[in-house]
Amino acid sequence: VILELEGMRRFIVIGHRAATSGDFNLNDLCGSAGRLDILLRCINSSFFLSHAIRRDVELFLILKGEPHPPRTIRLNGREIKYLNPDERSTAALIRNALLKKLNGEVRSTPGIYISKRNFEDAIEKCSKTQLIYLKEDGENIRNVRIEDDVTFVLSDDRNLNEEEESILEKYNAHKVSLGPLDLHTDHCIILVHNEIDRRNKLQKEKMIQVESTSFGKVIIDGKTYGDVLIVDNEVIPRNKGLLRKVFGSSHKISEEEVKKLLEGDVEVIVIGTGQSGVLSVNPHIREKIKSANIELVVSKTPEAIKLFNSLAKEKKVNALIHTTC
Ligand SMILES: C[S@@+](CC[C@H](N)C(=O)[O-])C[C@H]1O[C@@H](n2cnc3c(N)ncnc32)[C@H](O)[C@@H]1O
Repeated sequence: VILELEGMRRFIVIGHRAATSGDFNLNDLCGSAGRLDILLRCINSSFFLSHAIRRDVELFLILKGEPHPPRTIRLNGREIKYLNPDERSTAALIRNALLKKLNGEVRSTPGIYISKRNFEDAIEKCSKTQLIYLKEDGENIRNVRIEDDVTFVLSDDRNLNEEEESILEKYNAHKVSLGPLDLHTDHCIILVHNEIDRRNKLQKEKMIQVESTSFGKVIIDGKTYGDVLIVDNEVIPRNKGLLRKVFGSSHKISEEEVKKLLEGDVEVIVIGTGQSGVLSVNPHIREKIKSANIELVVSKTPEAIKLFNSLAKEKKVNALIHTTC
């Protein structure tokens, strides 16, 4: 279940008056359907790119209108089909879901599920992810670290009520603002996507590529180095002169280097032990890394650089690359 939850952007939107039976009029989505139009626009904003669907999105619509509140409609971008940008056809998909006979969570059409779950159930389902309550007076989003696995909570045209806010407090949701003005819910979703898209692009551009290694050499982003540390996406040549002076060889790792490797929110440390694995990582260093709750990967350098490149796509990785024997 946790794997399935990884790397998704989630939005939970409460529709305080949204109709909970399928007998509403498709020509009156704002009126008899209880401002269902707002939720339909949220579906558009959550999933549509110009010529594609965002697959890494899950949207929970909490319908609290009459006659059968609550209903939760869950839309999953990995599975969703038959979604068109026009609101009327999406309204028909929602109406089909509301006409389903319910027994637990039921699939209505591919990627669209309906249940009798309430707001707190949805929050509980997403509680292993970073939880963000979008609100005008929250912390500026530009100063907030956004995890890969994140859930944003928004309201429709009415503010969340006290009970809904107290649920968010209970789950320690972080109140975050998208700017000084009071915006439409669907526009907030677009702004969130844009913020994360830009950060992801920057992250990709910044990512170091270790291209190849041979005896005494490693090529990183087109430049040739000898032994290096990679810390917080920066390449730092190892001070081999100093290492030889202290240890008589560069086949050991200094305390100073361990300190550097532990810098900058690191999640994994990769150590390339040389072309034939002669560099040693003593138990004291292993213990220090383990007790900082950081994963340690030790491997001969040709293998280590491959591991570095693939791990760095997902996690913050620092490395020490030894290039000789
Ligand atoms: C139209 S607003 C809600 C009602 C409105 N605040 C009112 O005065 O009645 C819709 C939702 O979008 C989100 N929102 C609107 N503007 C925002 C902003 N500047 N920053 C963060 N979230 C915002 C909030 O979750 C809000 O509940």
